[in-house]
Amino acid sequence: MINKCLFPAAGYGTRFLPATKAVPKEMLPILTKPLLQYGVEEALSAGINNMAIVTGRGKRAIEDHFDNSFELESQLQGTPKEHYLTEIKEILKKSTFTYVRQQEMLGLGHAILTSEPLIGDEPFAVILADDLCVNDDDESGVISQLIEVYNQHKCSIVAIEEIPMDQTSKYGIIAGNLVNEMEDTFRVTNMVEKPESKDAPTNMAIIGRYILTPDIFDILRNTKPSKGGEIQITDALLTQAKKGKVIAYKFKGTRYDCGGIKGFVEATNYFAKQQDLI
Ligand code: UTP
Repeated sequence: MINKCLFPAAGYGTRFLPATKAVPKEMLPILTKPLLQYGVEEALSAGINNMAIVTGRGKRAIEDHFDNSFELESQLQGTPKEHYLTEIKEILKKSTFTYVRQQEMLGLGHAILTSEPLIGDEPFAVILADDLCVNDDDESGVISQLIEVYNQHKCSIVAIEEIPMDQTSKYGIIAGNLVNEMEDTFRVTNMVEKPESKDAPTNMAIIGRYILTPDIFDILRNTKPSKGGEIQITDALLTQAKKGKVIAYKFKGTRYDCGGIKGFVEATNYFAKQQDLI
């Protein structure tokens, strides 16, 4: 069983400055909902009710968002505006939220290591909320899909997407051997963090969805900082991959990279069209 979903949300969000000077990147809205709420909804739809969030300085708005707001609620109660709070109140009813602060932003791997007291000794899901994923074909979100793959293989699982070769320097890139005939699962043999296209083993990029087994914490503790002085989750996953313990899965659906302006605008347009606004 996967009971907990981790949301590393301590990054600076420099690509969205000045908007992210006082507002956490994860709280930027696509229409009326913050990015992080889409992630929490994806975890809930996969049957996960425990949300563990890594925050940092200046991120208090995240905790306030996932909490009751008595003053606002009593102001709106019995008025025609009451329905605006229905959705978030439903989420609060179904979920628990725990938080830990990353004191120094030493990278995604370090953020995940910081979450160990919240996760403990069990496999867990990870969502990077700035990768917003939708699946029009059926209802299952990417984390639901990863859990299915996890149940088969019982090891760490990473969601991947084929990207244009000139984009490899933005992603962790994998190489692997096909596991099944559907061509959607690979046993990972190599992983490289943000390689130049000439050094990239493939064009298969890791996106912000993972299932990790808890031995990742010990591995992260022993992982030295690499690119940019950061502890990379890719390096820790490579240690597991060398033992044949990482499966990469080509997820079904569309990912919007909302960590950058272009993807953010595309996601906004997608949801605006869904609601017949444009
Ligand atoms: P990004 O690489 O997108 O970094 O982190 P960022 O700081 O959020 O954004 P830019 O590049 O400065 O614009 C990927 C994910 O890892 C988290 C981020 O919050 C994001 O969800 N992260 C990154 C941490 O939690 N801690 C870190 O030290 C670094």
